[in-house]
Amino acid sequence: MKALDQAATLRARRTPDERSRLPHRVKRILAVSGGKGGVGKSSLSVNLAALYACRGERTIILDGDFAMADLNLLLGVAPSRSVLDVLQGESVDSVLVQAHGIFLLPGLNGSHQLANFDGMLRTGLRRILQELVVDFDTIVIDTAAGVDDTTMGLVASATDVILVVNAEPLSLADAYAALKILKTRHGVNRVLIAPNNVQSEQESETLLQQLRALVDRFLGIEVVNLPSVPFDGQLNAACAAGIPLVMARPDAPASRALCRMVQKIDGLTLDDIDASARGSTAKVGSPTSEAGSGGATVGAARPGSTTHVRGTPSDVAVLERPGDASGARSRPE
Ligand SMILES: Nc1ncnc2c1ncn2[C@@H]1O[C@H](COP(=O)(O)OP(=O)(O)O)[C@@H](O)[C@H]1O
Ligand SMILES: [Mg+2]
Repeated sequence: MKALDQAATLRARRTPDERSRLPHRVKRILAVSGGKGGVGKSSLSVNLAALYACRGERTIILDGDFAMADLNLLLGVAPSRSVLDVLQGESVDSVLVQAHGIFLLPGLNGSHQLANFDGMLRTGLRRILQELVVDFDTIVIDTAAGVDDTTMGLVASATDVILVVNAEPLSLADAYAALKILKTRHGVNRVLIAPNNVQSEQESETLLQQLRALVDRFLGIEVVNLPSVPFDGQLNAACAAGIPLVMARPDAPASRALCRMVQKIDGLTLDDIDASARGSTAKVGSPTSEAGSGGATVGAARPGSTTHVRGTPSDVAVLERPGDASGARSRPE
């Protein structure tokens, strides 16, 4: 048996309680959201995960678009099991598949059961994340469109929230709706904005300014601009081939932009660690467990706390909190 399989078997033998006492390995949990469908959440998720995996980090991507899952296609795999099996009692390890050096926890396309799991899904996800933070350096969560409780709870459990926007008319309005719920219902105080599919730097600047104007006026959430990803015709071809663009075409304009995005995210993480070391405004909570080398401190800030700028893996508890369905798909107020 391969070493990896042996390790997985050993982990699987541990009870959930034993696993929850293991030191966290995770350095970052990136949730890729955006409110709107079709803005590029899945494309960015897969490629960000690929860049971290290329660095040799143990990386997993969770298909949080549970019932309309498509990450398996983007990674060129056909998993026989999904998160539904985990919710029905299978171990997480037995459901994971690997492609291009990235682990995938698959969703299930067209699953009525998953689409309607709600409370049980939230509890199950909490358990799943608690297991993953022990085993992975980087967890990327690709989320569904919309701002339902499960999706927003999942997003808020990340250490960094990436909101993907594009120039489509409803993209900014839906991004604003997501920001509002993340801030008011889940205590998220910082979000990284990723303009995608842009035709020019000018278009990206305009998008960011428009969103910033809404946010400054109504929400008071910190928004950090990430480098934009240009429209890149090679992306569709890579998707069709089931290979992340950054691996298939590392020199493609979008690939280079995605590398810059990762560098910026890394810089933010280092800033957070510096701030934490200086004991300044609780950008991360007080350290409670080990992080890998160069990794983010796993802190103790609680969901809903006003100091929750960068989330912590301990925040997976937010998945159990009731959310505010009334805010779903709201437009700027
Ligand atoms: N930067 C880009 N350049 C060209 N096409 C893109 C870009 N980003 C996304 N797309 C395309 O847009 C479509 C929707 O992307 P996807 O990642 O599935 O969005 P979402 O997950 O937000 O629904 C896909 O066909 C994808 O290839
Ligand atoms: Mg998607």
